[in-house]
Amino acid sequence: MAMMATKCPGIKVTCIDINEARVAAWNSDTLPIHEPGLLPLVQEVRGKSLFFVGKDKFDEVISEADVIFVCVNTPTKKHGVGAGRAADLSFWELAARGIAKPLKDADQGKLRVVVEKSTVPVHTADAVASVVEAAGVTNVEVLSNPEFLAEGTAIADLTAPDRVLIGGRQTERGFKAIEILANIYRCWVPAERVKTTNVWSAELAKLIANGMLAQRVSSINTVAQICEMTGADVGEVSMIVGMDSRIGPKFLQPSVGFGGSCFQKDILNLIYICESKGLHEVAEYWHQVIKINDLQRARFSKTVIGSMYNTVARKKICMFGFAFKKDTGDTRETASMYVGADLLEERAQLSIYDPEVSKEQMWMDLHEAIDGKIKENKPNVDELVTYETDPYEAAKGAHAILICTEWDCFKEYDYKKMFEGMMQPAFLFDGRRILVSRKAELEGIGFRTYIIGQAQ
Ligand code: UGA
Repeated sequence: MAMMATKCPGIKVTCIDINEARVAAWNSDTLPIHEPGLLPLVQEVRGKSLFFVGKDKFDEVISEADVIFVCVNTPTKKHGVGAGRAADLSFWELAARGIAKPLKDADQGKLRVVVEKSTVPVHTADAVASVVEAAGVTNVEVLSNPEFLAEGTAIADLTAPDRVLIGGRQTERGFKAIEILANIYRCWVPAERVKTTNVWSAELAKLIANGMLAQRVSSINTVAQICEMTGADVGEVSMIVGMDSRIGPKFLQPSVGFGGSCFQKDILNLIYICESKGLHEVAEYWHQVIKINDLQRARFSKTVIGSMYNTVARKKICMFGFAFKKDTGDTRETASMYVGADLLEERAQLSIYDPEVSKEQMWMDLHEAIDGKIKENKPNVDELVTYETDPYEAAKGAHAILICTEWDCFKEYDYKKMFEGMMQPAFLFDGRRILVSRKAELEGIGFRTYIIGQAQ
């Protein structure tokens, strides 16, 4: 929305959230999310063409709006039919019902365009249209406009997107609505990159794009395992494979496992759709992407424990990075929470440092991962975990350092200084391959190193 407000002259953008604390944060200079480059963009247009308001303004803003973007969460269902797989659309439905009321009371002569921005499984636009129409709103079109930006690079991704996707009903009014939205994007995105499709193609294309990206990560993570066993180097294999222009170099970086709010959730959705249509083999094919990812996280924990003489109980282990990737404070589905739970199950003492993740967030995530994995005799997070604000303090007295997120600052640390304050033998496990170029130096210092995708 900040990008639209900056790039489209004459457009007024109002963001509404029911959480007043978040609205206050958006109106301050401490935004509620860490995203490089976002604050200056917001500051440029806030109070001019971009406004953040609370729910008291809901009816007024909705009844005036020409285009309404719905950007609510669509997490995986936790209970009931499709639990663990299907998307929970209750926030979406609530939003649709909320919008319907002021729209019904407002001018019905004007076409209102409701835009699905949240990633939703195929058919959702129809469901939303039926909720809004059943409430008596007659002149409304629901479009699907999935977002392709990635966290940490959002501003660059939005400034020059590979494509903007707009799906709409293939009717006269549907085409009219598509044009209204496409014209907003055409303010800064070249026309040939603004693609229009039917609603279902748009919804499915988003799921498949994420599925294929996740599939690449799982594929290269299987290659990392083969390399560790054979002595091939995954960095070299990845480089050579990626030079094939049909394959391309991106998303071939082995890791401790992909995380984030999207990949797993979207693939689970895809699996659910396949199963509900009787496509069991297709569902199983996509399920493998998730299984390999689960295995990759567990394998990292096993390597740590196995290398440290099969016991980490009461050993201090320093974990660098808790976010699911660098340049974000987001921890949803982060590999760190699962690796952390594995080590806590073994009664390791964890000391965690992440430049952007709060102590409260890590505490909640560790509890969630432990509750999902351990049913009895759960480790006591409060006794076993410390949250550090200084990386050198975090490493002091530790038996091992684990790199779980690829933050740039982790590449530059004075590891010799850390080594001198550590228990011996000191181990370093790089789950992100950010220290490949310093491996010889680290081993010269005395570290016992493990880097994902390299034989030891
Ligand atoms: C992903 C997609 O990349 C976006 O296009 C999409 O819009 C977004 O989901 C969404 O659906 O909202 P995001 O989850 O923010 O974006 O982050 P990614 O850059 O895709 O990374 C996902 C995970 O894969 C991270 O944990 C990352 O560390 C991991 N990854 C990525 C690897 O392990 N190796 C790689 O080579 C690339």
